[in-house]
Amino acid sequence: MNIAIDGPGGSGKSTIAKILAKELHIAYLDTGAMYRAIAYYALEKGADVADEKTILPLLDDMNMEVWEENGVQQVSVNGINTTPYIRENRISMAASTVSKIPAVRIKLVELQRQIAQKTDCVLDGRDIGSYVLPNADHKFYMTADSRVRAQRRHDELLKKGQDIPVETLLEEIEKRDHQDKTRSFAPLVVCEDAVVVDTTNMTIEEVAKFIMGIICK
Ligand code: DC
Repeated sequence: MNIAIDGPGGSGKSTIAKILAKELHIAYLDTGAMYRAIAYYALEKGADVADEKTILPLLDDMNMEVWEENGVQQVSVNGINTTPYIRENRISMAASTVSKIPAVRIKLVELQRQIAQKTDCVLDGRDIGSYVLPNADHKFYMTADSRVRAQRRHDELLKKGQDIPVETLLEEIEKRDHQDKTRSFAPLVVCEDAVVVDTTNMTIEEVAKFIMGIICK
């Protein structure tokens, strides 16, 4: 079984995907972490994430591994475990920018499909239902008002010691939404066969119950 959850940042995808994976005893694949890992690796190498010419050579001999450790997904690139660094706020926009490059997407989509084929899993991302797994058993599109998403991101980052004003995060979130929705290759879209869940005024428990209700129908 494969479950696709797509939607913009801060809509609650990863929280819900983790709950579903636990309740259904299946794996969870956070595909955003894979784009974040490439962005982190590229920045460490001094590459410009907006410049295909500097990214393509890195892809040639790039080996990404994804595994789970104590219930937490880990992503390494050429042996470097990027997990501790990819949640930094600077990586969010860099991941969105590098994800516009088709060769980056092709490489990661191949790996995502391999994992999904081998294992029952819930995947969250931007293009899972539309491009990675168009035949997924269940497709959801989660969204929420951008101000609410910025506030959620603020609270999340604060817990990790990064205090970034909500207004700054709101601007970044809207810029990232625009970039993810307007890129030419596999943009963020609402699939015709996806169930849309607006989480603006819902608790995590309500969203999880609603989605579980559909899956277990
Ligand atoms: O879900 P996230 O915030 O960790 O994702 C970071 C960026 O990675 C997002 O802004 C766009 C890109 N991404 C993507 O293009 N396709 C995916 N399936 C997942 C993420």
